[in-house]
Amino acid sequence: MSVTAVVGLQWGDEAKGKIVDMLSPGVEIVARFNGGDNAGHTVVNSYGTFKVRLTPNGFSSPGTLCVIGPGVVVNLTTLIGEIDQIQQSGIDLSGRLWISPRCHLVMPYHPLLESIYEQVKGLSRTGTTKRGMGPVFADKVSYNGIRFFDLSDNTLFSGKLRLQLSIKNPIFEAFGLQPLDYDQVYQEIMQLYAQVKDCVREPFGVVQEALRRDGSILLEGAQGALLDNNWGTYPYCTASITLAGGASAGLGIAPRLITQVVGVAKAYTTRVGAGPMPTELSDSTGETIQKAGLEYGTVTGRPRRCGWLDAELVRFTSQINGVTELALTKLDVLDGLETIKICVGYHRAQTGDRLWHYWELDAHRLEECRPVYIEMPGWLKPTVAVRSFAGLPPQAQAYVRKVEELVEAPVRYVSVGPQREATIPIG
Ligand code: GDP
Ligand code: IMO
Ligand code: MG
Repeated sequence: MSVTAVVGLQWGDEAKGKIVDMLSPGVEIVARFNGGDNAGHTVVNSYGTFKVRLTPNGFSSPGTLCVIGPGVVVNLTTLIGEIDQIQQSGIDLSGRLWISPRCHLVMPYHPLLESIYEQVKGLSRTGTTKRGMGPVFADKVSYNGIRFFDLSDNTLFSGKLRLQLSIKNPIFEAFGLQPLDYDQVYQEIMQLYAQVKDCVREPFGVVQEALRRDGSILLEGAQGALLDNNWGTYPYCTASITLAGGASAGLGIAPRLITQVVGVAKAYTTRVGAGPMPTELSDSTGETIQKAGLEYGTVTGRPRRCGWLDAELVRFTSQINGVTELALTKLDVLDGLETIKICVGYHRAQTGDRLWHYWELDAHRLEECRPVYIEMPGWLKPTVAVRSFAGLPPQAQAYVRKVEELVEAPVRYVSVGPQREATIPIG
């Protein structure tokens, strides 16, 4: 039996989708356990290019079940659009998608509430993906959420919806927005629900069955450890648990059954939205990385902020996730750089020469930190066609080995292109 969690070690967009897709052939179940349609996971394989936000990345592997666990919040419009796109590409999803009835629904009022928070915060806004994540998870933990379970009972849903609108509509009116119409929201949600109803059934049983049969399961993390609600750069983070530990509660699988944790890290750092990023480059090197890496957000299209690899962060996020192996992605993006820097810790003004760790600091103090770098020579050769570690230029090999040494975890995969096969397995 193998249960492998694939998680992001930075601020999201580390290419988790590509790694999960690459690992998915022959796997019994691929499951999402956190986040919602704030995720955007890109996959390039023989069926085409997909940017999925809710569907687990096992859809391209025939026979693999795609499970959405209770830790995920579901936007029905996004999900239905995605299922259509996948089926239109010639992939048969019938019977393969399982959505937990415990999943909370993103309701039309959630993105609206979020837009009020962001607007009122002004310059201190989080820079969210505008998918209503903060409000939907807030409703979940404050016992105000609406779940798929509720939709299967008209009276229950109707009562809960009326109640929520009686709380939310006065807020909208206070901020000069139109209140939402009960009948319209009710009809819209019911009409969407009817399209996915058959897939809404608790996957706990099929997960247990796969475990009994020694089947393999992949747990597809969304976002990255530095966006985690407890351990990320709060309040510049997301609303859910993004760590491997979150997979246990978010899917319903005992922690001791997770046998491997693949930590996905880009060979450099990116971030979308606001918040501290010690190694951010606001110069031409940053622009070069952004252009070479096509660093624009999958969900919002916003340019991603780019900078050097921060090994201090990735060591911490590897530790907290219990990473057993690393997938170092987008190495090819560094092909054109003469010198490459890696951050090994931080200095803070007026605190002498001591190196500070990420976990000692909050977002505000991290903002004041200066990164301490080591420098490595670049390789100035294309790596996109390389398929073996020995085939990489010596400087690129040295870079990978240095990352292993600093992060204290073995690199098992190096990714040199978006396609499934543009991957170098090591060992
Ligand atoms: P995710 O959210 O972690 O799944 O990552 P995204 O899909 O949001 O962003 C990763 C982007 O990098 C996508 O556009 C991928 O197609 C692309 N990509 C993945 N791996 C590589 C790689 O090794 N090299 C390059 N150049 N692009 C890659
Ligand atoms: P994947 O799974 C990158 C960021 C947003 C914002 C913060 C809060 O594709 O790696 P939210 O909408 O979640 O309330 O926004 O989190 N964010 C992501 N950044 N990749 C993601 O997902 C992200 N999901 C959320 O940009 O800074
Ligand atoms: Mg993404």
